[in-house]
This record gives sequence, C-alpha cells and structure tokens, in this order.
Amino acid sequence: PPPGPLGIDPLRSVAKEMKFMTGNIRQLLGSGHPMLDTVSKYYTQSEGKYVRPMLVLLMSQATSSLPHDARNWSAPSMGDIDQPITPQNILADANPSSPLTSANLENLDASDPSILPSQRRLAEITELIHTASLLHDDVIDHSTSRRGNPSANIEFGNKMAVLAGDFLLGRASVALARLRDPEVTELLATVIANLVEGEFMQLKNTALDEKHPVWSEDTITYYLQKTYLKSASLISKSCRAAALLGGHPSQIVEAAYQYGKNLGLAFQLVDDMLDYTVSGQELGKPAGADLELGLATAPLLFAWKNNKELGTLVGRKFSEEGDVQKARTLVIQSDGLEQTRALAQDYVDKAALAISGFPESDAKAGLIDMCSKVMKRRK
Ligand code: FPP
Ligand code: MG
Ligand code: MG
Repeated sequence: PPPGPLGIDPLRSVAKEMKFMTGNIRQLLGSGHPMLDTVSKYYTQSEGKYVRPMLVLLMSQATSSLPHDARNWSAPSMGDIDQPITPQNILADANPSSPLTSANLENLDASDPSILPSQRRLAEITELIHTASLLHDDVIDHSTSRRGNPSANIEFGNKMAVLAGDFLLGRASVALARLRDPEVTELLATVIANLVEGEFMQLKNTALDEKHPVWSEDTITYYLQKTYLKSASLISKSCRAAALLGGHPSQIVEAAYQYGKNLGLAFQLVDDMLDYTVSGQELGKPAGADLELGLATAPLLFAWKNNKELGTLVGRKFSEEGDVQKARTLVIQSDGLEQTRALAQDYVDKAALAISGFPESDAKAGLIDMCSKVMKRRK
C-alpha cells in the first residue's frame, strides 16, 4: 500500500480518495503566469501529511449514515477555476465555468458515495488554506526548509512566497464561494482571520510583562488560546463545516467541532514537543526553531512553572549568547515535555469522546485512529 499520512499505515476508508488530493489541489491552482503557477504549486510537489483534508473526509464518511436534511449542492463548476490567460481565451471568455474535466471524472468514478462532492471540495480548500499559511509562516519564521526541501522563501524569495500564499487564499475563497453555503463560507473565512490572530498573539505576547515576566495560569491560558487560533481553528471549523455540508442537525455538527478542536489542540502541543525532541532531518523542517525565534511553547512554559530561573530568559526571548542552549537544557531536564504530552493525551481523549456516539464504521475507527497517530507521530 502507498505510504499513508503521518508516514504510518494508510487509513483504509479514505486511502482511495487521498490519492486524488494532490492532483485536485493542483487543478485549483493553475495560473496563466508560469512563475506564479510554479510558486503556488511548489508545496504540492512534496506531498504533505494531508491531515486536514483527511479529517474532513473521515468526518464526512463517519457522519454519512446519521440524520440529515439533504442539503443539495450541485457544483457550479467542478473543473478548473480559471483558464490560463492566453490571447485566445481573454477574447473568448476569461473565466468560463468549465465542464467536468477528464481528471475530475476519473476522480468521481473512483469516489466514495458516502462523501458529497462539496465535502470533497471542502477537504481541498482546507489544504489550500493550510498551505497558504505555511508559505506566509516560512517568511515570518525565516525558515529554510519545509517538507524536506528548501522552503519557498528560500527558493523564490519572500515577495513571491507571500504573493503565492495570497493567491492560494484567493483560489480557496473562490472554491468556497462555489459551495454556495453561507454558513460554511463564514466558518472558513473566520479561520483565515483566526490564523492571523494566532500568529499575532505569538508575535506579541500581551499576557506577559517582558520587564518582569512572571509565571501564572494566564501564561498557559494565553498559550492555549493562541494554539487554538493558529492550529485548532482550521481543523475544528473544517470538521464542523463537513457536518454542515452533510446537512446534519446541530448535535452532530457540534460533536464534529469538538472532535476537531480537541484533536487540533493536541496536534499543536505535539508539534511544539517535537521541536525539542526530533531532529530537523526527521522533521523535514528546522528543529529547535521555536527557542531560536524567541518562542516559549508548552514544554518551556511547564518547565518555567517549577524553575523560575527561566523567566529571565523568556523576558529577553532567549536573545543573549547561550540563552537558547541554557533554556533547552532546562526544559529537557524538567518534566515539561512529559506534561505537554499528558495534556495532549487529555485532548485526544476528549476528541475521541466527542464522537463516541457516532455509529460504528471504518471512518469512525479512522477518526479514533487519528488520535493515537497524533500522539505517536514524529513528523
Ligand atoms: C505553522 O506554525 C504556522 C501556522 C500553523 C499558521 C501561520 C499563520 C500565519 C502565518 C498567518 C497568515 C496566514 C494566512 C493564511 C492568512 P509553526 O511556525 O509553529 O510551525 P512550523 O514548525 O511548521 O513552521
Ligand atoms: Mg514556522
Ligand atoms: Mg511560525
């Protein structure tokens, strides 16, 4: 079988669907400008883990036998969103609603009837938004690698990386509008705003007095709020949107949301742990990056609670000679990593509990399986 998401065994019930993901996403990204085409498709060359689309597909399947009021979605266009701009089609029709293309028909042939076309498109939209955020994030973080390759900012420069991210958001917005579902559009538009809010909270911690950094429960609360906005918002709101597109009643929509929220929080906690514990080689992106960026994440915040010495380093964002190494050592010697893991475990337990009422199915088993995969992942 093909290597699955998170590098572990593929989740059987959506494995077939996932095979078409890269191709479908690339179809949403065509631009008549060859360089923009290249930059915007750059992160689709090395397949990501596709965690978000996979969750949307699994959630769609897992809820498919539950009550629904058949929201209908007839795709205005399942084909290319824009035609490449050529002298011919500028004159003819710059933005035709193209019919089904052969690539899409092939996909529909193989597709699972328990996933609606709108839900499949939503899965692709989540990956577009996520990839856009990575393009921007790598500029902000001065990152040098992503998915085992040079990051887009290194390969093409900051200007093109930022613009390509904007282009992805534009195309995601068009695809979203074409779902013709105002509530789903509002959810995903809110996600984009949330990503920026989370990134801002990280850039400027308003809960901390840099002159006199003091540990308090608020330190953790601020971190978790930031974590929700920068990571769990996309996962939770897209799970919610999948249930909405399925036409399910509010109890089911809420369960889908709670699953996504808790899994998303766990996912980022583990991410912040891996930054301390796994090599850059294995991660496919720089390791130990957070301290270098001046960021105090969960492992350090828990270590700080029991070792007030860390406060001074937090206050100056690990900027002085030897700070990063000192902080790293103190975190590794503390129980901060263990506490982070334990908190992530609490969240995945809550995620599993949220969907415990769903009828048994392969897809439900897949959603539960995602909980343990998130805990076991090393990249
Ligand atoms: C990765 O975090 C980044 C995010 C989860 C979101 C970043 C959000 C923005 C840059 C806001 C603007 C984005 C959009 C789409 C409007 P990380 O740096 O902790 O993870 P990494 O180790 O994978 O780089
Ligand atoms: Mg980053
Ligand atoms: Mg970042």
